[in-house]
Amino acid sequence: MVILGIETSCDETSAAILEKHDNQLLLKSNIVSSSLAIHQKTGGIIPENAAREQIKYIIPVISQALSDAHMQISDITAIAVTYGPGLIGSLLVGVETAKTLSYATGKPIIPVNHMLGHIYANWIDHADITFPALALIVSGGHTDLVLFENHGTYKILGGTRDDAAGEAFDKIARLLGLSYPGGPIIEEKAKKGNPKRFTFPRPLVGSGDYDFSFSGLKTAVLREVQSLGTLDEQTICDISRATQNAIISVLVKKTLKAAKEYDVSSILLSGGVAANQTLKEAFIQNMKHQMPDTKIFVPQKSLCTDNGAMIAAAAFYHYNPLPWKEITADPQLYFE
Ligand code: KG4
Ligand code: ZN
Repeated sequence: MVILGIETSCDETSAAILEKHDNQLLLKSNIVSSSLAIHQKTGGIIPENAAREQIKYIIPVISQALSDAHMQISDITAIAVTYGPGLIGSLLVGVETAKTLSYATGKPIIPVNHMLGHIYANWIDHADITFPALALIVSGGHTDLVLFENHGTYKILGGTRDDAAGEAFDKIARLLGLSYPGGPIIEEKAKKGNPKRFTFPRPLVGSGDYDFSFSGLKTAVLREVQSLGTLDEQTICDISRATQNAIISVLVKKTLKAAKEYDVSSILLSGGVAANQTLKEAFIQNMKHQMPDTKIFVPQKSLCTDNGAMIAAAAFYHYNPLPWKEITADPQLYFE
């Protein structure tokens, strides 16, 4: 079985070919074209700009994914596409392309929830994930904890009340005069930062629920930046270190609390912020002492940020084809 996965929910245009053999998902190709350079000029994503770029790239990206996998469209079993959540103009590019391909070739089409896709990036490299599993989604728009009893049986334990973790990285980077996206640059600067110079609040860390909030952290950094006036390079590194520490500390504490309460055997990190190496190490360190029998999974770095492979992966485990006429983009979609 071979699935073509298409992802265009935000600023990436991506297509991938994924094959399933026994219980293993084999990645044949994964092409990601980003309009990041354009968004760096504007300091963030302008939806209209993102969609216009995606229209240019979608066909070449799909052709490249097929040719890298040494396949033709006739070799594909099904087409999987992100139908939400995301930017409406961007989603439409992927959804309409997938529908046209389905109409022209007769291949079934599987609509995939973008958030589910992020979680299923974990199955591409790991066939040994066991349930119950707790997924922490940390992306630009979401910080959510989702408990999986099995494929298709899940419950949302908590979510973002305001700014998501990735959004906090992006907004704080902007306060520090750093470019978009903020996460990778803050991670880099934090390596040279002094962890003792600043301490920022850890919002909702002790609340009894599994919700997250990072807007208070952003405000605390804003006040610090205003009181400092000018920022030298070392100060930027020190603030980056304290910001990253605060975010990681909340994510690890709340996730491990839920993992213990629900006695899970796997923790799955996913979403762009999961590309952060310090976050991964913090989980490994804390779990070694607190939950030695629970396994932690993190997708390879290139599969943490948006990509077509994760959409194809989710489709293998939620194989629910729909007639192309019944598929519409849904920008507000969450887990149904
Ligand atoms: O999952 P994603 O690619 O797109 C959404 O669906 O939102 O996540 C993008 C987010 C951005 O906020 C970016 O700053 C963050 O992921 N990010 C990181 C790192 N790489 C990307 N955050 C922290 N550390 C990183 N290394
Ligand atoms: Zn995403």
